[in-house]
Amino acid sequence: MSDFIGTKLTMNLGERSYDIIVKRGSLENLYQFARLDRRVAVVTDSGVPAQYAQMVADQCKDATIITVPQGEASKSFKILETVLRQMLDFGMGRGDLVVAVGGGVVGDLAGFAASIYMRGIDFINCPTTTLSMIDSSIGGKTAVDLGDTKNIVGAFWQPKLVIVDPDTLSTLPRRHFINGLAEAIKAGLLADPELFSIFEKEDVDDRIGDIICRSLRFKKSIVEQDETEQGMRKALNFGHTIGHGIEAVKGIKGRRTTGLFHGECVALGMLPMIESKALQKRVRGVYRRLGLPTRTAYDKEKVLAEMLHDKKAQDGQITIIKVPGLGCWRAETIPVEGLRPLLGMED
Ligand SMILES: NC(=O)c1ccc[n+]([C@@H]2O[C@H](COP(=O)([O-])OP(=O)(O)OC[C@H]3O[C@@H](n4cnc5c(N)ncnc54)[C@H](O)[C@@H]3O)[C@@H](O)[C@H]2O)c1
Repeated sequence: MSDFIGTKLTMNLGERSYDIIVKRGSLENLYQFARLDRRVAVVTDSGVPAQYAQMVADQCKDATIITVPQGEASKSFKILETVLRQMLDFGMGRGDLVVAVGGGVVGDLAGFAASIYMRGIDFINCPTTTLSMIDSSIGGKTAVDLGDTKNIVGAFWQPKLVIVDPDTLSTLPRRHFINGLAEAIKAGLLADPELFSIFEKEDVDDRIGDIICRSLRFKKSIVEQDETEQGMRKALNFGHTIGHGIEAVKGIKGRRTTGLFHGECVALGMLPMIESKALQKRVRGVYRRLGLPTRTAYDKEKVLAEMLHDKKAQDGQITIIKVPGLGCWRAETIPVEGLRPLLGMED
């Protein structure tokens, strides 16, 4: 990452616009970008090195750190309530601020808490995993799970600012680091052949700054055109239809604490949606190079059943995103049963 300087992007959403600062060391300079002279709830989880939340709290006039247990199980009503209760006990009012310091779990949970506390207060996202830096920290989707059903209760709540400090990745376990890159490969396949070529030819650790920026630029352009997923934003679901089905059956989710990570499931889910066999082969090569799974054994009937219950499936129909060749995509609405051949099942 030696030659990476940093950049500022702006998510242009009218009055909900915000800056995305991608810069090494930016977490300890949050005060330069945000008003911290108010009550600030810094939400983090037990797996995120505590120094990051402390670094943010130290810059605030009056902060409390709320630490939830690490893992997907924290995206629950129970934990949401404990976060809201601690915000209330801290005396937070309408003008106060929630700052998330952590991965997608913390971002989704803290963002949702901010969206409903007093009908919505300011929220800043400081992602500390590749997945959250590349994808989940921007776009305003916040949610908790309901039992085993992921992200079923939530809100669109855009942050006021996103601070991406790639230096925080130095402590991230390798499997999580690679897991998040699946979302960047997705961006490359959909729209950015140069980004894809980084994964084929270059050292991802060296190029992580550019990988993050290019991925964010892509997601930003989609969200700006379709903030609440009426059309275009569906492109971001590339790999997620089958990916979510696999995640439901084999992923870390609800009470299940071992299995495949979200990005790993998305990586597997993208493969059947790539129409060119030659490109599929290149993508498998990238997965092998990075250490992402290229195949997994799973009960296909169960995965299909999960997809039937996918919240995006309506009246048995589902919109899937296909990639005919590198850098292009198209949406197709098909009966869920039409996914059978894509899963390698009988027609
Ligand atoms: N809102 C969105 O648009 C969106 C998009 C994609 C995914 N998601 C959600 O994101 C979640 C997954 O996010 P994730 O992959 O970041 O997982 P995560 O938040 O669970 O983080 C992974 C692990 O890394 C630890 N960690 C985080 N930062 C660290 C650091 N810098 N150093 C050491 N350890 C660190 C965490 O404690 C956790 O144990 C899922 O719940 C998924 O539904 C949301």
